[in-house]
Amino acid sequence: MNTSLTLRRPDDWHLHLRDGAMLAAVAPYSADFGRAIIMPNLVPPVVTGDQARAYRDRIRAALPSGAALQPLMTLYLTETTDPADVVAAHAAGVIAAVKLYPAGATTNSASGVTDFDRVRPVLEAMAEAGIPLCVHGEVTDPAVDIFDREAVFIDRVLDPVRRATPGLRVVMEHITTSDGVAYVTENASNMGGTITTHHLVINRNAILAGGIRPHYYCLPVAKRETHRLALRKAATSGQGPFFLGTDSAPHSDRAKLAPCGCAGCFTAPNTVSILAQVFEEDGALDRLEAFISLNGPAFYRMAPNEDRIRLTRHDSAVSYPTEIAAGDETVTVFDPGFPLFWTSEPA
Ligand code: DOR
Ligand code: ZN
Repeated sequence: MNTSLTLRRPDDWHLHLRDGAMLAAVAPYSADFGRAIIMPNLVPPVVTGDQARAYRDRIRAALPSGAALQPLMTLYLTETTDPADVVAAHAAGVIAAVKLYPAGATTNSASGVTDFDRVRPVLEAMAEAGIPLCVHGEVTDPAVDIFDREAVFIDRVLDPVRRATPGLRVVMEHITTSDGVAYVTENASNMGGTITTHHLVINRNAILAGGIRPHYYCLPVAKRETHRLALRKAATSGQGPFFLGTDSAPHSDRAKLAPCGCAGCFTAPNTVSILAQVFEEDGALDRLEAFISLNGPAFYRMAPNEDRIRLTRHDSAVSYPTEIAAGDETVTVFDPGFPLFWTSEPA
């Protein structure tokens, strides 16, 4: 017999929608979320309030009519970001946060930060105005093993930056390690941690064992199983600092299946179904709403969405698109590796 569950409409606190034909193709798959924090790593990146406003208009135009999604924009922090522009864009309701990419850490991060002292005035202005900083938490030092880059980032960058700017509210995004879980837990008074759908499902074996699977390659890269289990525990705990940021990051198959393939998993089409299954499997369906609909707005000091979605568990597996078209390209949808039984729809 089908069972169903009604939850407040979820939000996605970390989403890549891209631009142009890719934006048109992927935006509808996030339309049923209430709000989404939109990543600014376009080419060129979104660095000023005016650019964020224009990008927001393009996103709104790409959404189907009747879409719930409200794009919450971010600015890409560079060493020349003007603190006054950040504060003005926030005061005008154009941006909800600022994104910090260490230079070279991931897709289109070349304009990111190398010398953290140079962004101190911006961080201080943000602390003063209560503007959250969303952080891609990996060091880029080539001497540091890629599987250690998150843990080393906490010690070398995140903790010193937070100590130097005590009032700053920080989201450690897409945490992938037990170190990330521990750091966010210890500092929950002014920190949040987002967790992606895919990092709850795959460990590094999915990428590398029995053949290389580029569609599972993302950044931060999935770690060993003990870390995945720590993320599952944090997400399904329902505890305040942890909330959903899918990091749904579409790339064309051509860009993924290349000798130097791009990082990113496209999870928007099946994220809610996968999450329902993960929480069901862990006996935590009663805490799914905290993770996807309540903890995020609480951190961002916003009200939870008033409207609801209905999740239905079907007796047999449900289908979802395995790939979508984007202009002349195809984009592969994340395959969780198990059949899905849950669907969701606006209630
Ligand atoms: O896997 C990822 N893809 N991680 C990121 O940090 C960036 C993203 C992208 O933009 O493709
Ligand atoms: Zn991302």
